[in-house]
Amino acid sequence: MTDTNAVRDAIYAFRKARLGLERRRLDYGRETRDRADRLAEILPASVAELRGYEREYESLEWFHDTYADRVADVHDAGVATGTTHWRDGVTLYVVCRALGIETAVETGVLYGSFDAHILAAMVENGGGTLHSVDLPGGPPGPFEYGHLIPDRCRDRWHFHRGDAREVLPDLLERIGPVDLFLHDSDHRLPHMRFEYETALAHLEAGGVLASHDVRLSALFDRFSDTNGLQSCVVCDTGIARS
Ligand SMILES: C[S@@+](CC[C@H](N)C(=O)[O-])C[C@H]1O[C@@H](n2cnc3c(N)ncnc32)[C@H](O)[C@@H]1O
Repeated sequence: MTDTNAVRDAIYAFRKARLGLERRRLDYGRETRDRADRLAEILPASVAELRGYEREYESLEWFHDTYADRVADVHDAGVATGTTHWRDGVTLYVVCRALGIETAVETGVLYGSFDAHILAAMVENGGGTLHSVDLPGGPPGPFEYGHLIPDRCRDRWHFHRGDAREVLPDLLERIGPVDLFLHDSDHRLPHMRFEYETALAHLEAGGVLASHDVRLSALFDRFSDTNGLQSCVVCDTGIARS
């Protein structure tokens, strides 16, 4: 068992190093410019509508005022490593606005970059609840999980402390079916596969299975193909729709 874990850890470390190199070559400007076109292939929304949500995000002063200050807190404390980039948050913002997502579940909160973007879309939608799961303890530095989430969004946010392996099945059973599931916790393949499979069984028809760091392996693409989901990747986030 220990040997198996050591091999898995070594493979994961290799994949992370390879992803680091791939990210240096990835043209994020182009990824961002193509976001609306790629999402329009799998969502019931036009490119023009999706670009409209991107512009709306840019002009969301109430969000950016708080988010920028709190990102600065985390950077100043020297613990920002591991925070999901805002450009991936924008992808989730656009998806949640386009589909009017009401019930969402996310694993892997850290400072809550993704959470903040999903919740901002819910505020603009005028409804919605996000359930998030992260391990016992807390993130590095003098912060709570979800530090980046603006106060205005917090009444829509429910935090569940524990290992996703233990928390997720019961949580999804209790609140499902869900409109959106987002994986951003442990990116080792057995855990990713566990979360995708558990979430898919509780996904609303037409709902979205999203995952960060899908470029680590072929898992997300294969899982989408095997389960008949339409999918695309924007920056480092995969979006698949049932
Ligand atoms: C990459 S960070 C998440 C970044 C975050 N989504 C954001 O928007 O900035 C990964 C997080 O997953 C959490 N995590 C790792 N393994 C987990 C597990 N088995 N269950 C729940 N959370 C887990 C870690 O504690 C960490 O906070």
